[in-house]
Amino acid sequence: MIIEESNLQNWRKAGRISAAALDYGKKLIRKGSPLLEVCDAVDAKIVELGAKPSFPSQISLDHVAAHYCPAADDRTILDAQVCKLDVGACVNGAMGDNAATVDLSGNRSELVAAAEKALAAAIEVVKAGITLGEVGRAIQEEITAYGFSPIRNLSGHGLGKFEIHTKPTVPNFDNSDKTVLQENEVIAIEPFATTGKGVIYESSNAEVFMQASDRQARDASVRKILEKIRSYEKLPFAKRWLLKEFPPVKVALALKILEQQGIVQSFPPLIEEARGIVSQSEKTVLVKKYGCEVLTQSPD
Ligand code: CO
Repeated sequence: MIIEESNLQNWRKAGRISAAALDYGKKLIRKGSPLLEVCDAVDAKIVELGAKPSFPSQISLDHVAAHYCPAADDRTILDAQVCKLDVGACVNGAMGDNAATVDLSGNRSELVAAAEKALAAAIEVVKAGITLGEVGRAIQEEITAYGFSPIRNLSGHGLGKFEIHTKPTVPNFDNSDKTVLQENEVIAIEPFATTGKGVIYESSNAEVFMQASDRQARDASVRKILEKIRSYEKLPFAKRWLLKEFPPVKVALALKILEQQGIVQSFPPLIEEARGIVSQSEKTVLVKKYGCEVLTQSPD
């Protein structure tokens, strides 16, 4: 989305809080820490800093590329894994989205560097008038130079007011898309590098959901839960957030019905097809005439 100058302060603030939350979360990723505790702590940090989570914080491990959000009873303990932490903050509808990889295995530093260098290369070329294909090429060249594959069916994206994913699709390879970036457009660039095939599939058992329609539920029994879902303002939410107020059986049934009716959409974990290990690096940027401004810039 192209941002009005008058609204830029909100986007800069959302970006700053996103980056601070990512820094904070990275420090909590240590062997022996419960994954659920880290995610809860990062979500709470975002609120403490004066924003709301743009989406529930997620930590995807090893061959899980993205969208692993812990259930209320998640027992995962961080160990020798490659951990992708994806977090974002929302300020009055302005959105931030950023991610980083923490390598607890101790032997995947090249894979982590590949995603980081690819992001830096993309940021280097982004400016108004560049094509999306060219951004993808910068990412692809960097990742393949390391001997890894970019994940081709995962991409960066535009951000809009209360919209975490909107046009354009920012590819992680040269897909020859001739669409050009516009001045003052906000996009998230997120290269994924893998030792596998470079293709992900959607698994099942989603823990992340989002309201997708303003329609009322036909079923009276799910209306109370839908009311709560509406309070998230169409930002993605975690199933476990609903469990603080409603019993598990009701939540599971309501989400099932609402998804069938197209009122709610689910985001299951995304798995690398060859079970390759995956790294990710992501920042939100504002496209400028002669370059870009990183909105999720960490102060240090
Ligand atoms: Co993103």
